Amino acid sequence: MPKKERYMITSALPYANGPIHLGHLAGAYLPGDIFARYCRLKQRDTLFICGSDEHGVPIMLRARAEGVTPQEIVDRFHTIIEKSFREVGMSFDYYGRTSSPVHHQTSQEFFHTLAEKGVFVLKTDQQLYDPQAKMFLADRFIRGTCPVCSYEDAYGDQCERCGASLSPADLINPRSAITNAAPVLKETTHWYLPLADFQPRLQEWIAGHPEWRSNVLGQIQSWFKDGLKDRAVTRDLPWGVPLPEDVAKKAGVDAAGKVLYVWFDAPIGYISATKEWAMEQGDPDSWKPYWQDKDSKLIHFIGKDNIVFHCLIFPAMLMAHGDYVLPENVPSNEFLNLEGNKLSTSRNYAVWLDEYLGKFEPDSLRYALAINMPETRDADFSWQEFQARHNNELADILGNFVNRVFTFIEKYFNGTIPPRGAVDDLDRELIAAIAAARDGVGEALDQFQFKEAIKRMMDLARFANKYFNDKEPWKTRKAAPETCASTLNLCAQTACALAVLMNPFLPFTSRKIWKMLQLAGEPEQAFWDEAAILPLAAGHQLGRLEILFQKIEDKVIQAEAERLRAVQEQMKKEKALSSQELITIDEFRRIDLRTARVTAAEAIPGAKKLLKLQIDLGSEKRQLVAGVAEHYKPEDLVNKTIIVVANLQPATIRGIESRGMLLAAESEGRLILLTTEQGAPPGKKVS
Ligand code: 2FM
Ligand code: ZN
Repeated sequence: MPKKERYMITSALPYANGPIHLGHLAGAYLPGDIFARYCRLKQRDTLFICGSDEHGVPIMLRARAEGVTPQEIVDRFHTIIEKSFREVGMSFDYYGRTSSPVHHQTSQEFFHTLAEKGVFVLKTDQQLYDPQAKMFLADRFIRGTCPVCSYEDAYGDQCERCGASLSPADLINPRSAITNAAPVLKETTHWYLPLADFQPRLQEWIAGHPEWRSNVLGQIQSWFKDGLKDRAVTRDLPWGVPLPEDVAKKAGVDAAGKVLYVWFDAPIGYISATKEWAMEQGDPDSWKPYWQDKDSKLIHFIGKDNIVFHCLIFPAMLMAHGDYVLPENVPSNEFLNLEGNKLSTSRNYAVWLDEYLGKFEPDSLRYALAINMPETRDADFSWQEFQARHNNELADILGNFVNRVFTFIEKYFNGTIPPRGAVDDLDRELIAAIAAARDGVGEALDQFQFKEAIKRMMDLARFANKYFNDKEPWKTRKAAPETCASTLNLCAQTACALAVLMNPFLPFTSRKIWKMLQLAGEPEQAFWDEAAILPLAAGHQLGRLEILFQKIEDKVIQAEAERLRAVQEQMKKEKALSSQELITIDEFRRIDLRTARVTAAEAIPGAKKLLKLQIDLGSEKRQLVAGVAEHYKPEDLVNKTIIVVANLQPATIRGIESRGMLLAAESEGRLILLTTEQGAPPGKKVS
């Protein structure tokens, strides 16, 4: 028997600081699962690994915000995420977590090996430190005013308002996000991965993979063009994989408070989760062939924001270590938008997987996301399209075909597969279509073309529906019973083939068909290459029938879309408010606002909007012209205490000198004077 091809498949480890949303699912998990299921059906030696990424500053920030420990945060979300993954049909062979002892040990050993090999460069420099919290401040722990747009709550690495990419030193008035204290500079030593040294080797390796997606190669080339920079792979943080003490000692550095950078340990999480899988199998060394056998094909499924880590940094780490294979492919997806807008987890502009699964079927989502996958460009998810895909394609094409075939067999053939007699041209076309679908879907999947693959599977159902119509079994039943029997036999064989070919995409539906067909085991145990052998024997008994897809009603979809619209409206309002140009407090202080008492007021002939006011500013008297004549009579103003801009340049309006400007609010076309709540004396500073 030829040696089985070995596939080591991973999906990006999700951060355990929130639940999974549809963008995550479409980006890294669904394609990984489809591919892994396909590989198993092809009887390849397949391992599909994932797990929770439980380190990193966002987890610490969330823990602080909630007043709990980071461990409590990751325990909570690890459980939620794992449950959602199970319910949506992710077929991971192992779902690990990076807080596990095996992971800590594996990461430390990896780091240790690189240190022993002299791969790292040590650098000592000054970094921001919170003297109150007694800790160094990672980028996300520093806030301050953005030098680009003046937003006062920008992070040390990025301004969320204008998107500018920053470093903590760029921030104006930096402060600690933990204590608000002004950070001080303090010396610290860190381990750097000298990526620049790896660039030639990485370039040579990438040059050997012209088959990778062009969007992935494009991003990699632009990193190369800019020149790879050394990356710090340790941090001063209380949460993470501790820096190995002996490595620190050898370098003469205190290991206390130092951890590995989350992006150093996270991809090692793939390896440690595979080790845990092997232990669970009772064969602790069985992880090695997947990672170390040179024929093993390592495939990383990720979203585009992870490209640099999986295509450059982790491969550099693997190269440096020397015992591991490099990725065979990194089919990174682009982003999924929602109803035409970018997802925003902080604003709850997202569809959360756990919530979705409380209301709808997993396969409907798997179908809608796979057929519209953001493979080479961003895609959009809309509830209306979701409903249309479910109702018009899953229910009306796939469900309808299976249902009409099985109910026909139940009604007219006592629920047993009728015999297949002579076949005609149309029958042969259907038989050929099954084989073509098996090959076509497989080829597309081997090239990571998921949209094309699921479309080809669905085309078979479409063709089969048409076949059923064209053969008119309801007529041949009496007129040509043998033909009718052959038609239904072939239809049932097609349903059986579809159960196998759809399994990577629609595993739950595949199992339902398998059950109705009363076939042994599960469809996952079928052999892809035999999907077109027409295995059902005449006389084989069908089981209890069930409808595969119930239509989704408009009102259900409208409620979902409505929620998103409301969030969108709210976001628009917030954006409008925040996009106004902001001024600093010093700029505001330049405006001299003062209380003033109106001592006299009169109309200005020929100027129906203007009034001439005499005001008392305490230390001086002034005259000003105000555009309030349509809203106030002169006598209404006299003796009122108003607020004026006292340091406005004098102006001459209609030949009358005006020194200052009164403040008024506009409400539905009316002007309302700003006055003081209690009669404040004139000339008082307003701030
Ligand atoms: O972007 C993310 O969600 C990361 N947690 C992905 C990590 S992938 C791997 F390296 F672990
Ligand atoms: Zn900004």
